[in-house]
Amino acid sequence: MATLVIVGAQWGDEAKGKIVDVLGDQATFVVRYSGGNNAGHTVITGGQTYKFHLLPAGILHPNAVSILAGGMAVCPKSLLEELDRTRAQKPELGELRVSPAAHVVFPYHRELDRLEEAARGDNKIGTTSRGIGPMYTDKVQRIGIRMGEFVDAKKFPVRLREVLEFKNRLMQLLGGEPIAYEPLLEEYTAYADRIRPYVMDTEAILQEAVRRGERVLFEGAQGTFLDLDHGTYPYVTSSHPTAGGACLGTGIGPRDIHNALGVCKAYTTRVGEGPFPTELDNEIGQQIRDQGHEYGTTTGRPRRCGWLDLVALKHSCRLNSLSGLIITRLDVLSGVGDLEVCTAYHAHGGPLGHLPYSIEEWEGVEAQTQTLKGWSEDIQGARSWDDLPKATQDYVRFIEEFTGTPAAILSIGPDRDETIILRPDLVWGS
Ligand code: IMP
Repeated sequence: MATLVIVGAQWGDEAKGKIVDVLGDQATFVVRYSGGNNAGHTVITGGQTYKFHLLPAGILHPNAVSILAGGMAVCPKSLLEELDRTRAQKPELGELRVSPAAHVVFPYHRELDRLEEAARGDNKIGTTSRGIGPMYTDKVQRIGIRMGEFVDAKKFPVRLREVLEFKNRLMQLLGGEPIAYEPLLEEYTAYADRIRPYVMDTEAILQEAVRRGERVLFEGAQGTFLDLDHGTYPYVTSSHPTAGGACLGTGIGPRDIHNALGVCKAYTTRVGEGPFPTELDNEIGQQIRDQGHEYGTTTGRPRRCGWLDLVALKHSCRLNSLSGLIITRLDVLSGVGDLEVCTAYHAHGGPLGHLPYSIEEWEGVEAQTQTLKGWSEDIQGARSWDDLPKATQDYVRFIEEFTGTPAAILSIGPDRDETIILRPDLVWGS
């Protein structure tokens, strides 16, 4: 199994960054395939904390090539800041390649994100304000500016002028101020000059790598239930974080994706608005938030916390055709007391046999939970299955049985070492 997708199996923030960092040194290529700097991945290693929004966490491995693929939304300013910051922390990074098909995020996208959220009033989505939705709108509307054009010194000024004129009219319609062309062109031309050397045909590079049988790791961002098609629409992001997004976003066909692993927390969190049947708006929710430092890497917003939703997780296993689960943040549940897990949804007096399709359907949904024994021991020092308390082992076994998906890796702390690989055969194969 040479190609592996690491996907967020819940609503994002499942600690994918740490997992990609752990597995990245075994890969030749690490590829981000969707989303942009709405994502936030924290990696703690060698006494340093790295925060990534656009760069794949694999950039920390000097022997791996990091790719920002065509499905992405790339803010040039943020990319360059991140590169400079990361290089200052660690001078030897892996090489970087950016797809000419990736779309570029401009200040008018951020401004439109703000104006559109304000216009939604009580129905706001709770976006990260990074301009991601408006940028993907441009992509679908077929007026977006892609990396290939952005770094073309002849084409970029022409495209920017025509798009900005249109965007300025839109922003004014929504009560915003127009953005001046000349200063924007000057600022972004300088970014384009720095990014140009990284832009190359990543589709061909990856297809060739797959043909040679090299290890390619596709790093998912956000999570399954934020997927534009498969998430809790309209409270979703505007891209495809599910495993299928790896094909669309990179140009690698489905038969060349050999494996998919889903990262899930031992509980559930989400940021922004939208359905969350197991949410704990009480002291236990606050305890999980405090123990897990559940505040957004990108926006600093407190994350909504709740019990593990196994109904949603099982759905995610199917949707992403997961061969295994990577269960993170088990350590956060130490001392929480007995633990509940959601094993069924009820709506309008009866069981619900599927995940709701619409917000109206979600509104009546109640989580039916089952109580499992908790543990009070600090498990961060565990390095093998046998080091874990029986209650933690039982909790993991329950997840496996309910979802029908084996646990491949457990994460019991933020550091690289705080990881237990239970099934190496489920990662790259034996
Ligand atoms: P957007 O992606 O900024 O448009 O935000 C849409 C929704 O997705 C909001 O609820 C955000 O909080 C959520 N979201 C976007 N990116 C992430 C992420 O990386 N982790 C968790 N939630 C996210």
